[in-house]
Amino acid sequence: PEKYNCVSKLNKLPPNILSLLKSAGEIGDKLNYKVFVVGGFVRDLILNRPNFDIDIVIEGDGIEFAEEFNKRLNGTINTYASFGTATVILETGEAIDIVTARREYYEHPAALPKIEKSSIWSDLFRRDFTINCMALQLNEKKFGTLLDYFGGLEDLENKKIRILYNLSFIEDPTRIFRAIRFAARMNFAIEEETKEFICKAISENMIKKLSEDRIREELVSILKDSYPHLGLKLLTEYGVINNLNSDLIIDADIIEKVQNITKSIKEFDSFNIEISKYKVIVLQILSSVNNLDEVMNLFFTTSHFEEIKNTLAHKNSIYEALLAENLDKYHLFTLLKGLSIESLVFYYNDCNDEYMRHYIMLYMLILRNISIHVTGEDLKKLNISPGPIYKKIFDEILKAKILGLVYSKEDELKFIEKNNLLGK
Ligand code: CTP
Repeated sequence: PEKYNCVSKLNKLPPNILSLLKSAGEIGDKLNYKVFVVGGFVRDLILNRPNFDIDIVIEGDGIEFAEEFNKRLNGTINTYASFGTATVILETGEAIDIVTARREYYEHPAALPKIEKSSIWSDLFRRDFTINCMALQLNEKKFGTLLDYFGGLEDLENKKIRILYNLSFIEDPTRIFRAIRFAARMNFAIEEETKEFICKAISENMIKKLSEDRIREELVSILKDSYPHLGLKLLTEYGVINNLNSDLIIDADIIEKVQNITKSIKEFDSFNIEISKYKVIVLQILSSVNNLDEVMNLFFTTSHFEEIKNTLAHKNSIYEALLAENLDKYHLFTLLKGLSIESLVFYYNDCNDEYMRHYIMLYMLILRNISIHVTGEDLKKLNISPGPIYKKIFDEILKAKILGLVYSKEDELKFIEKNNLLGK
């Protein structure tokens, strides 16, 4: 398995990361423990994708190692003695997870003799996919040596997501979601047998064994990853969506619209408003669901429920109004004002109509910024006593302004007089 050396790739890492890995190796040498960095870090290093989430496995006493390591780095340490794990938090806030490789004995079936595998082997074998099961040794003499017991490198080259053992999805059904997340992120294929095991686990109702929170976390991870429309497509193809809730129907149109969201958000870039892409995606996914109450909590805990319901409930009437022949600017303003930026981006993305998009942009660019000059002080000077009438006057002036009837403060004051807004 030691067929590949990653030294040159390690040497190209940011110096602080490289020196951290070297320190880990030195401390391992001092304590006479084998030290490995494992999992996603190794996968992404080989793929040249930046990932500085460092998971360390120690063949030896992980906690003793972590304490030495922490001393060297001047960090803060949390230890979990019963698990043999620790987290070292650096001054920069980054966390490094350290685990003790569990010594397990691997028993070959039938007549073959018992073979004791090294603990790093056992530690890697418990994991999810071959591409996530590689380790790099950090001890000085073997710095950068790749341990690839399960064909991870080959699967990386062939772009395959493959489990290590048949019961993987039964033991840990979150791996169904993880397989889809990695496949979508890197545009990898899920290997045939792995695919069958996913389907088998779903048909055996394994997803239902996960808590609502776990399922939500996994869905959120897929939808917040790089290519959410691909994740959604796989979730649908594998029957995960249908298994989660049969009211939730994702068709090709929705998948395409989810794909378009990135482009739509770009159109709003110049407004410098923070947009939650995730919220727009969820609105798009839920856009044709009838029974929202049942489905929303797959994506959000209680927050945002009202906003989602309102945005979707008003969708058709807003589209109809935007297309009406007699739509004037003030009506456009009243239709869209008060909507969250995510609702606006959602309508923009979902409507598929250039006129509607134009109107939404007109609102964003111009109408929402229009304000009036006249203040409460001005109205007091006109001897109007404060009360609900103020708001009525402001609204009328704003309307006139949006419609282009007034411009300056002088215009506004004249407008008050001319239209008998004083309530006298
Ligand atoms: N892992 C696993 N089964 C899980 C979760 C995690 O086997 N259900 C293992 C994998 O080997 C994974 C490692 O634990 O590489 C770390 O998990 P995590 O940080 O969730 O995954 P990453 O692979 O680092 O993914 P990401 O790039 O999304 O951070």
